[in-house]
Amino acid sequence: MEGRPPRPAATITPDVAPLPRRALAAYIGPVPFGAPMPRLLAVLALAALPLPALAQPSAIDAQVEALLARMTLEEQVGQLHLGSNGPGFRPDAARAGLVGGLMNFNDAPDVARVQALARESRLGIPLLIGLDILQGFRTIFPVPLAQAATFDPALARQAAYLSAREAAAAGVNWTFAPMADLSRDPRWGRIVEGSGEDPLLNRLFTAARVEGFRAGGLATSLKHYVGYGAVQGGRDYDATEIGPADLRDLHLPAFKAGVAAGAESVMTSLNALDGVPGAVNEALVEGVLRREWGFRGFVVSDWDGVKELMAHGVAADGAEAARKAFLAGVDMDMESGLFARHLPDEIKAGRVPEARLDESVRRILRVKAQMGLFGQPDPDPQAANRAILTPEARAAAREAARRSMVLLRNEGGALPFGPSVRSVALVGGLATAGGDQLGPHAARGWPDESVTILRGLRERAAQGGVALAYAPGCDGECRSADGFAAAVEAARAADVAVAVLGEVRTQSGEAASRVSLDLPGRQAELLDALVATGKPVVVALMGGRPLTLGARLDRLAGLIMVWYPGTEGGPALADVLFGDAEPGGRLPVSWPRTVGQVPIHYSRAPSGRPTQADNRFTLQYMDESLEPLFPFGFGLSYTSFAYSDLRVSPLNGGEGEVEVRARVTNTGRRPGREVAQLYVRDPVATRSRPLRELKAFAAVELAPGETREVTLRAPVRDLGFHLADGTYVVEPGLFEVYVGGDARASLRGEFNLREGLRVPRG
Ligand code: NOJ
Repeated sequence: MEGRPPRPAATITPDVAPLPRRALAAYIGPVPFGAPMPRLLAVLALAALPLPALAQPSAIDAQVEALLARMTLEEQVGQLHLGSNGPGFRPDAARAGLVGGLMNFNDAPDVARVQALARESRLGIPLLIGLDILQGFRTIFPVPLAQAATFDPALARQAAYLSAREAAAAGVNWTFAPMADLSRDPRWGRIVEGSGEDPLLNRLFTAARVEGFRAGGLATSLKHYVGYGAVQGGRDYDATEIGPADLRDLHLPAFKAGVAAGAESVMTSLNALDGVPGAVNEALVEGVLRREWGFRGFVVSDWDGVKELMAHGVAADGAEAARKAFLAGVDMDMESGLFARHLPDEIKAGRVPEARLDESVRRILRVKAQMGLFGQPDPDPQAANRAILTPEARAAAREAARRSMVLLRNEGGALPFGPSVRSVALVGGLATAGGDQLGPHAARGWPDESVTILRGLRERAAQGGVALAYAPGCDGECRSADGFAAAVEAARAADVAVAVLGEVRTQSGEAASRVSLDLPGRQAELLDALVATGKPVVVALMGGRPLTLGARLDRLAGLIMVWYPGTEGGPALADVLFGDAEPGGRLPVSWPRTVGQVPIHYSRAPSGRPTQADNRFTLQYMDESLEPLFPFGFGLSYTSFAYSDLRVSPLNGGEGEVEVRARVTNTGRRPGREVAQLYVRDPVATRSRPLRELKAFAAVELAPGETREVTLRAPVRDLGFHLADGTYVVEPGLFEVYVGGDARASLRGEFNLREGLRVPRG
């Protein structure tokens, strides 16, 4: 194994300038139509705009208007069509200029081929080439939820940037990411694609990803607008019901932050919110997104989202579905083809105003121009190959993986392996599952380019003269117990057993809802058999959601959540188990004891009947604790930390910040990195406020015995909440603050806010 890779730079240093924020902010209103321009001139004029010229949006606007003026109705509607690679792909439509974007074309020759078709069309308008790039293109980083566990948005920005660089080199220019859906329900498989349960974390990670993807050369699509993370029962595609104040406090902020960070597009959700499917939610698309937030990019439906309006029961036929979605503010129709089929007639019949069509086309063309797609050379396959899996990207993926792993249990200092560990038994089919470790939605990540856990551990063990025996016990899904005896034998013969258990990647992500959070297949049986050997057993849990281990957890020496750690998951886990690096992660979601506790999150509202153990008529379950097994923000380290001396700076309100300081001491024997977290409570307010809300966090690196003061700052404007009519208020009065290493933080202080804020809707 090569030596430890260097740490990636804390900040991004893109070699492609990010699109200036000003340029997007200037997607303003219609610019008068210019004189029609010959086709070639139009294209050349757009192509000639160098990147700095993006700061002069009026030039782009003028060119877009000129192009728009030359388009036929069919060509305009064509720009609203997003087709896909696959059996339905129609090269003739692309050649006729009747396609605005294509998805799922993902290598340079294919992209060049379809862009060439578009160039042959009358106006030669280039295509948006979209793909789901969430945690990587070819080099795969840990899944988004794992990245959120780093509590380090800069790391996610870097991961997005490097992923975008690889994808952009292959000619992809648009990612269907980031997912900004807040989720508090691990039954929902798509919890893996987001940043967890907390609005602040979600907001910061969403914005960081938008910035990173854009800096790396991809347009972004915030998804799924909005509320998809709260599907009832955790059932993917099911309905959601969210009150208006909660919608604004919990679910909208990440989208708003993504828009402010420059997202070029927003994807509507497939499901219905309070009876209104995402693709027809005019109040949220035209009202909140466009009018309130000033979003000037375009809105795309999710896959077949327009067609599914019929199944939702809000449209009788394709024409009505297309008309309703379009009038609700959807500009681009992903895959269903209903815009292309019906909008021309709807416009001719006067049911859809032509001006609305112009506006949608304008939005799409502007993004294409902003992205520099006009006149952009085709991707060069050789350059695309050179751009992937670079040492820099692999090193960053490895660092991200070890920083995201969350150590949940470490009995008697079982980890990291000490000198007494001379032999390790590695068990579990997932230890060799190069594809599974990439997680769901792994774009073009190839299983055989992953460094598996077996390989990572084997190489590191050999370096340290430690024997490693691998006996899988079963494959990833673990349906058969045939291999259990050999695994048990290996564990008996070793000093420690490491069991890599969890979910294969198809058990996570889209369309992977579960009613149980238990280990799938016969893995629990395998684990029990390993524990019965009496040897220390460390579980490395792979998956995209918290899983429940029940009482057997108490018999484990160690438990580490490795999530889907990506291409470099094997070496990263070896780094952590052998103590070359710390497991840096903190939980971005509360970890339930049992599935019956979900939805579960740390920031619940107080009850009028707070829990009293001896009074059953208070908030409680009869058969389980209310508390999660591991709280939000939790994660052990190889050292320990203590907090003291909390101080709150006086503040007067308004636009100021509350500044909370506390001393953090490394009370253990190893250096370590702690994530200090600030929670705030407004104990008396117009609406019942959560018992705690995360308002700031900061990492601090400490040598053994070292103490440092951390300063946590929260803007006063972040201390408020929405009323049902959309008004945002920060109410004056007493606030409680808590600082510590997780949501149970006990170091307490308070401050008095003399002046509040009131911001009317819009
Ligand atoms: C459906 C998913 O809901 C969405 O997230 C994804 O971007 C599209 N399919 C395209 O793959």
